[in-house]
Amino acid sequence: MSAPITIAQGPQYSRILGVGSERGNRIVDNAEMCTWIESSDEWIQQRTGIVERRWVDESQTALSMALNAARRAMDSAGLRPGDVDAIIVSTVSVFRQFPSLAVEIASELGLDHPAAFDISAACAGFCYGVGMADSMVRAGTAHNVLVVGVEVLSEQTDLTDRSTAFLFADGAGAVVVGPSQTPGIGPTVWGSDGDQAGVIWTENWRDAMESGIDPVIHMEGNKVFRWAATHIANKAQEALEVAGLTADQLDAFIPHQANNRITDSMLRRMKLPESVVVSRDIHLMGNASAASVPIAMDALLASGDAKSGDNALIIGFGAGLVFAGQVVVLP
Ligand code: UT7
Repeated sequence: MSAPITIAQGPQYSRILGVGSERGNRIVDNAEMCTWIESSDEWIQQRTGIVERRWVDESQTALSMALNAARRAMDSAGLRPGDVDAIIVSTVSVFRQFPSLAVEIASELGLDHPAAFDISAACAGFCYGVGMADSMVRAGTAHNVLVVGVEVLSEQTDLTDRSTAFLFADGAGAVVVGPSQTPGIGPTVWGSDGDQAGVIWTENWRDAMESGIDPVIHMEGNKVFRWAATHIANKAQEALEVAGLTADQLDAFIPHQANNRITDSMLRRMKLPESVVVSRDIHLMGNASAASVPIAMDALLASGDAKSGDNALIIGFGAGLVFAGQVVVLP
């Protein structure tokens, strides 16, 4: 009989200890967007809720925005770089296979040789990261995990495609997940549907290089819309139920900021009461994929519409197709 190995054991609970974000500095309103595509401010607002979107200016990159968001999250958590022992970065905006953006961020932040890796789960990536961080903390494999969502989607936007160009945005959001005395992150409801991989996609980079084209986002918006308004609404309901909450016990709903009409459909399907504060960050931000939920969370707290200790349902969904969501106690 071999000797039994020692296993790691973490605290019973984890929670989000702090949040931070940075948006692209450049404001692109619908009038400017309509200089590139045949559309109108009225159509874009009615169909999506977007009034303006934020893109990077010349001073910003995925790395610089991620660093600022991460520093703000650590500050708001009251943690120093040496306290963070793992970093998970969700992005679809880094044009290299390795090294990961996570190791670069860790080094620039002065973290003390943390576990560091990138994940690819598109607009669901931040909520995938929160689910993984929650498990890591409670399993005892990390104490404080930095979860970053960062995107520069303006670089992958086809400004000749009127069916997608008006949607996408640039920004970064981050949280630190660490130990807690009380439950702070409900069970993660997540999954994928690879049969719908062709619904949102970009060109394979090698093929693109050989053909001399820039990879850009292609999307069958209607299909994503229907899937989100039905299947994802059901999954959001499931995340609420597995957290042991009823709709009237929820304080805030922070879905991926993909389209206001998707948010409205989800609200109707879930029958959330009017008392639930709903994030509408898309109005002045656009869709920043993995960064959208933490940016929206930060904004909701900064506005005072939601407060520390509130129960918030967060859910991300997008290319894959993939989704992930959970109830969290706001930091
Ligand atoms: O973050 C990743 C997940 N992504 C999403 O969740 C995106 C989900 N999908 C959507 O948000 C929506 O499908 C869009 C906002 C992308 C499009 O809205 P839609 O209501 O689904 O528009 P549609 O594609 O069904 O087009 C409706 C009409 C069409 O005209 P007809 O055939 O009804 O005459 C389009 O030609 O709107 C027309 N149209 C436009 N008109 C003005 C399409 N794009 C535009 C445009 N401006 N930019």
